[in-house]
Order: sequence, then C-alpha cells, then structure tokens
Amino acid sequence: MQEQDAKIRIGQLRETLREHSRRYYVDNAPTMSDYEFDQLMHELEQLEASFPQFDSPDSPTHRVGSDLDAPVGANAESQARQGFVQRAHRYPMLSLGNTYSIAEIEEFAARAEKVLDGIPFSYSCELKFDGTAICLSYRNGSLVQALTRGDGIQGDDVTENVRRIAGIPQQLRGDYPDEFEIRGEILMPYEAFDALNREREAQEEPPFANPRNAASGSLKLINPEEVGHRGLICTLYHIPAESVTFNSHSEALDAAASWGLPVSSERRICHDINDIKEYIDHWDRERKFLPYATDGIVIKINELACQRALGYTAKSPRWAVAYKFKAEQACTELLGIDYQVGRTGAVTPVANLAPVQLSGTLVKRATLNNADQMALLDIRVGDWVFVEKGGEIIPKITGIDPGHRTADARRPVFPERCPDCGTPLVRPEDEAKWFCPNQDGCPMQIKGRLLHFVSRKAMDILAGEMTVEQFYETGLARTAADLYDISNDQLISLEGWQERAAQRFLDSLEASKQIPFERVLYALGIRYVGETTAKALARHFGGIDALAAATQEELLEVEDIGDVIARSVFDYLHDPAHLEQIARLSAAGLRFDGAGQEAALSSALAGKTIVVSGNFSISRERIKDLIAAHGGKAGSSVSGSTAFLLAGTKPGPEKLKKCEKLGIPVVSEEEFRAMLPSGLASADLPPSGEEIPRFAETPSRGNPLPAKPGRNVPTIEEPTLF
Ligand code: IVH
Repeated sequence: MQEQDAKIRIGQLRETLREHSRRYYVDNAPTMSDYEFDQLMHELEQLEASFPQFDSPDSPTHRVGSDLDAPVGANAESQARQGFVQRAHRYPMLSLGNTYSIAEIEEFAARAEKVLDGIPFSYSCELKFDGTAICLSYRNGSLVQALTRGDGIQGDDVTENVRRIAGIPQQLRGDYPDEFEIRGEILMPYEAFDALNREREAQEEPPFANPRNAASGSLKLINPEEVGHRGLICTLYHIPAESVTFNSHSEALDAAASWGLPVSSERRICHDINDIKEYIDHWDRERKFLPYATDGIVIKINELACQRALGYTAKSPRWAVAYKFKAEQACTELLGIDYQVGRTGAVTPVANLAPVQLSGTLVKRATLNNADQMALLDIRVGDWVFVEKGGEIIPKITGIDPGHRTADARRPVFPERCPDCGTPLVRPEDEAKWFCPNQDGCPMQIKGRLLHFVSRKAMDILAGEMTVEQFYETGLARTAADLYDISNDQLISLEGWQERAAQRFLDSLEASKQIPFERVLYALGIRYVGETTAKALARHFGGIDALAAATQEELLEVEDIGDVIARSVFDYLHDPAHLEQIARLSAAGLRFDGAGQEAALSSALAGKTIVVSGNFSISRERIKDLIAAHGGKAGSSVSGSTAFLLAGTKPGPEKLKKCEKLGIPVVSEEEFRAMLPSGLASADLPPSGEEIPRFAETPSRGNPLPAKPGRNVPTIEEPTLF
C-alpha cells in the first residue's frame, strides 16, 4: 500500500473505531459486531506497524475503550453533568489482546516459552465473561470501593450500586489481606435480561441489545435500589499481583474464593497448547448451556513471577490473551420479506423467519440490509437461511443453505416504489440503500422523524408509536414544531384522550424546553448525528447560530467528525425548510444554545481553539471540559487557526511537527493550568474524593393511550423490528 493511501485508511479506521467504541462503551448500543470491530482494530494495528510514521499515542490501538459518561436514567438536567464521582485506579485497568485464530494462540504460547527460556510455567484457562468490568477494593475485610473500568486510568465510583448486587460480600471471612483489590465482571444472566427487556418493551422503552449492554447500563443507574432489582451477578478473575503475595494467579483466586468472593469454578490449569485447545473446544460447545454470556476464553500465564517477566504493553498484559468465539448461528426457514422505510427514507429488507432460538433469545425477524446483499446471497423465499447476532440488537442473515432449496422457492423482487407512499425509489451514487425521496410526504418518514424527536434520549416527550400515528392521521402534528402548537382542547377532542393524559402530555412538552442543546440537536434527526456526535458539535460550537454558520472545513475540526458527517450537518443546516423548523422550535422555547447549561468559569480561553494531544494527569475528556468551561474550544487537528497545542506526555509526533511548521506554540499541562484563573484550574471537575450530588430518577413514562407492545425508534436509523 502507498504511504498516502495508508494515511487515509488509518484516519478512516480511527474515526470508525472511536465512534463504535463510544457506541459500545458509552451508549451501550453497539451497531457493529465484536468480530467486525476486532477485524478493523487488527487492520489498524498492522497499518500502524507498517507505517510507524503515522502511529500516534491517542490511536484506539493504544487506548482502552472508555465507559465514562453520564449515568442512565438521569433526568434531563443531570444528564448534562456527571452523576458519578470519578476516581483514579490504583493500578491501570487494561484490556486483553484478542484473536479468533488458534494459530495465534500457538504463537502466544511459543513467545511465552521463548521469553521464559526454560523456566517452568503453566497456563490458567478461564471463561471470558461478556459483561462489564469492575474493580473492588477491600480494606480490613470490608468492601470500601467499586469502580468501573472507565478509561482504564480512572473509573466511575459505583460503590453504592455494587453493594446491591447479589453475591458480592460486604464483609469477607477467613484469612484475607488487610487491603487489596480484585477485578472481575458484572453480568446479567439471560433470564434477568429477558425479563428486563419484556418490561422495557411494555413501557415503550428501547430494549437493550444484549446482556452486556444491559449489565453496563444497569450498573450506571442513579438509584441503587433499582440496581438491586436488575438480577445482576458478579464473577471475579484478577487480583493485581502488586496487591497480594501469592506465587500464582490460581492460588490467588482460590484464596479469594475462600474469603467468600465469587470466583468462577470453570478455571483449569493447562500445561501445553494441547490442553489449551481441549479447553477451548470444550467451552465452544458447552457455553451455550451457561446461564450467562461468554464471548471466548482467556489464557493467562499462571505464575506471577513469569507474568512479571513478560510485562505489559500500553494497553494489555503480555502474559495473557483472549481467544474469542465467533458469533453463534442458527438455521431457519425464510417465510417472507418486508420492506421497511426508516425516518431518512432508507428502505431496508427485513426477513420474516420461522422462529428460532439464538444466543438465549427467540428470533423471528432479521435484517437483509439492502438489495445488493439480497442479490449476493441469491436469496429465495422458502430458503433455509443462517442467522447471526452481531453486537447489535437486530440479527442478520449471513448465508443460505443451498442444499435445502426446494423447487417452489420464490425469488424476491425488491420494490421499485416506496412500499408506503408509492414514490419511485432512488439510489444515490454513494449509498448502498434505496431511498424514498418523498421526505415531506411519505407517512413512514414523517412518523419516523416524530418518533425519534419524542424518544427518551431525545426530547423525552410522552408519546409512543400510537400517539404519533394518531397525531399524524388527524393532522395535528406532522413536524416536531407542530407538537408545540397542540392545545389541551385539541387533545381532548381526540379519541381516547382524557384530561389527565392531555395534561401529562403537555407537561412533558413544557419540560422538554429545558432539555440542553446537545439533545435538541440530536432530536432534530440529522443523518449520522447520534448522541455522541451531537454532544461533540454542541460542545464545539456552543449554539445553533455558530453551527449553522460553520463551513465544512470548520465542522471537520471537531474531533471524530469526518467528511460524511460534516457534509450531512452542513446540508441539513442549509435547507430552508429545516431552518424554518428550527426557527419555530426556537420560538416555542427550545434551547438552541448552551447558555446557562454549564456556567462558564472564566473567559481565560475565549476564542481559542486548542488541540489536545498525549496523556495528562486527568483524562483528556476532563481536559476538554476544562477548556470549554473557560471559554475555549477543543480542536482535533493542528491548523492555522489553532491557538496552541496542549501537549501531555507522549504527544502525537505528527501534531508536533505541524506546530513547528506553522509556528504554533506547544504548551505543557503545567503551563496550561497557569493560564487559568488561580483556584479554578480544576473547579467543576471534582478532584478524587469530592462527592457530586446524585440526582433523582426520571419518573417512569406512560402513554396516554393503552400501551401496545413496541418501542421507540432506536438511536440509529434502523427499521423497527420487534
Ligand atoms: S483478565 C490485565 N479474565 O475482558 C487483564 N478479563 O477484553 C485483566 N474479561 O477488560 C483481565 N473475562 O473486562 C480477564 N476471565 C477473564 C475475563 C476478563 C472477561 C474481560 C475484562 C477485560 C476484557 C478484555
């Protein structure tokens, strides 16, 4: 590959991986399977190894994915702030190198043998639990602290929530050390997961994609009592060697079990690669019968002295590796295909299947993505098809079983017209999907946009699918702005509406006027602008006026915004119809600027765009909050308009070079803090140990009409399937 192509590809991979890492760790709503994610990460690793001039310490290959964010279930006000205190980990919480190939496990074992050069050692093989990581601290036998992994350096303090999880002892027994840390995974067993999703669907809340997301979302609930009702469990698998004096990992875990801690009994000591392969084969078959999700096995060098000899990379230990299982598949009959129109007009073929059990749930529908995918599979109605669940909630058809095809299997015909409004479909050059171009007249698109606008993560207005349908049918609301013109009299004249329901609806409309700009921006439903992108845009531009005035180049300065998103935002904000909608929403009282949302601490950095690179004494997210709180903006790449590069340890060499070329100052963390008014350098960013008040839970939603099973539209544009 040419140097220039490599540079472009590296940039694309980083953008994609950062975005999906956020969807996975922060939003708890992945849209890519772990397998696809891992493949892209490996591609990036290889490119960075071949082109070291483009390597950078802030590449996702060198950083642990971060779960630090606002808690789930916080009300509108508190979501703008942090609900959990963040505290530094005593020892960084790293991730594990992973592979899907047995050959690479053989290489891992061979490398260990070479480095250990004749020293006898063994392997501890364990299940790789698919939940969310936790770090517990015990002092004099009492549980004193529980932190999430966070960004690996500091995590959210979820101690009170963890106290409610069954099986985690508050007090140890036996011969425990005075003080130690132990790490493991919080899991939601399949049974609890199904019950939770049934409940969420009944309340018109979006279900969790998988037990991992459900566990992670539940752990970050504001109300510890509610955490206790989520059926979470815990399994512990690692005591940092620095905090205890055992000879081996297995001894340490056996001891932990004797103190009453929940440790998996599915561990096994292996002596060579054949033992390891046997363990892998066994659990690849048997894991289907476990009551919780596992996504692979972990192989660790057991002797702690040998672990020390092997050491760590920036991101993971060299003494351990994860072998990941490929996603489970099921085979079932394709009964028919529906064509669903999303809120952007994209038409998605959705397969109706003979119900089949897959990774703990019954699957009846699966996506076929687009017309090309259907043609590639040469799929027929009546075929037996393979279904797989990726990280996302909607399973996919990955293949067909040609041996099973019968003579009467019918070739499906992709519609030429919109199945909802009959408009001829179009396929833009750079799109994989067909679109209904009738944006303003297609009922499915209009209703889809309204549903997105009212959804909980957007404006949190008390309206579900049936209400939106009714507003649409009666002509009461067809755009978001129409919602704010609805009167009490109009509502109670509708079928099924009583005074109380009408009042509750109007109250929720009124409350939505306090929702911060970043969520209003997300609610607008601009293509590719999910919650995290909306947040980044809001933080960078501060308000709609600056955002609408931004050129595409200026949009590209926002971290993680690439060409596609920049163009989409730019086009949206240059469409007169959209501007008119925004003007009406603004006149109705919605917040289109950040004023008052986060009181500025000073204007010490006003008008300055600052690029941040390297590692700091606090997380980069907090550095950026600090910049914003003092009136500055965080930029992603060094350009003529950069005020200075804020460089921590190991800043990106490319960025430094560019600064030198353009004569842009490079400022250290210390110098930066000195620029801020004294005493405010870390204000609003509580130092470890300072409590941030907790916020009340949002009252549960209700629909003024009898609830129908179904859910609000998901965060990303996907057809509503269940
Ligand atoms: S050991 C320093 N053991 O997988 C390494 N991790 O993808 C400490 N995980 O961050 C981790 N099961 O959250 C270890 N038996 C196991 C595990 C396990 C699941 C998770 C853990 C880790 C992630 C890496």
